[in-house]
Amino acid sequence: MKARIVVVSGDGIGPEVTDAATAVLQKVATKYGHEFSFEDGLIGGIAIDKTGSALPDETITLAEGADAILLGAVGGPKWDNPAAAVRPEQGLLKIRKHFDLFANLRPVKTYPALAQYTPLRPEILENVDMLFIRELTGGIYFGHRQEQGDGDTAFDTEQYSVPEVARVAAVAYRAAEGRRKKLTSIDKANVLASSRLWRRTVVRLNEDYPEVALEHVLVDAMTMYMMTRPASFDVLVANNIFGDILTDEASVLAGSLGMLPSASLSGGTMGLYEPVHGSAPDIAGQGKANPTGAILSAALLLRYSLQLEEEAKAVEAAVDATLASGARTADITPRGSAYVSTTEYAQAVIEGI
Ligand code: IPM
Ligand code: MN
Repeated sequence: MKARIVVVSGDGIGPEVTDAATAVLQKVATKYGHEFSFEDGLIGGIAIDKTGSALPDETITLAEGADAILLGAVGGPKWDNPAAAVRPEQGLLKIRKHFDLFANLRPVKTYPALAQYTPLRPEILENVDMLFIRELTGGIYFGHRQEQGDGDTAFDTEQYSVPEVARVAAVAYRAAEGRRKKLTSIDKANVLASSRLWRRTVVRLNEDYPEVALEHVLVDAMTMYMMTRPASFDVLVANNIFGDILTDEASVLAGSLGMLPSASLSGGTMGLYEPVHGSAPDIAGQGKANPTGAILSAALLLRYSLQLEEEAKAVEAAVDATLASGARTADITPRGSAYVSTTEYAQAVIEGI
């Protein structure tokens, strides 16, 4: 098949990890007889430097007709001035909103070979296989806010409507139906009105998916259960901010934040794929970045935007084989030991496909 992929690599280690991911996709194309085209677009700090905007119109136009968007990371100390009128992160929020990518899928699994990089006991990590579904275009990220320059008040608002919750909950229920039929909805319904609406909506939707067992867990308790009994969860659904926070915590289970991929979807097949990690400016340009999150995001791109399940599985299997072979990037290597570079690691994955 033919596919048009727009690559917005962004800042810091972004370009290094998207290069790894596109090289993997290119290998998939060659091996399975597909034709993938890659077109670069600007986003984040580099876009601010070149155009003044964190997401220039040209990038949006480029992405409009694409089958999928592959994103690296945005941000860095250079653009961190709190007084700046435009921030790299705005580009990320804008592209998610523009394409109405309301469902952010973040699968989390553990790698026995990396257990030593987690602070948890190995038995806690056994059989962990979670799928987080984070609402991505609403809530406090997009609510009415007021920042008063140097003043002494500022606010952000958490707001959700029933349709906004229902559509992301439906994605979660459908995912649960195809898995272990268990859905955990995370909220703070003991305090927040928006969480009570969230809970009520998720409960009502359960009628349409009667075979899925629904449970509610308060977000504070969830942070604890994630570390004490992660294997007891299957699909989890959370609002934008809780999903953001909990998935960074969940990355501890995988051994490194560099391991986690994500897919951001709307109703159709167009999607945006990005690793969960950030731009890691401290290690940018040194070949130290772990491209696994980006490579596994490319696998999700094959699965969800191109419906190439066999190819997606081949990429995931090649990542498993690469880790099993002992190849390790800097983040999952004991301090002072030898590690493979970002490109060497990607090459090992490519050879494994
Ligand atoms: C993420 C990131 C972003 C978010 C930041 C960079 C705006 O942390 O994708 O998880 O908060 O959504
Ligand atoms: Mn985050």
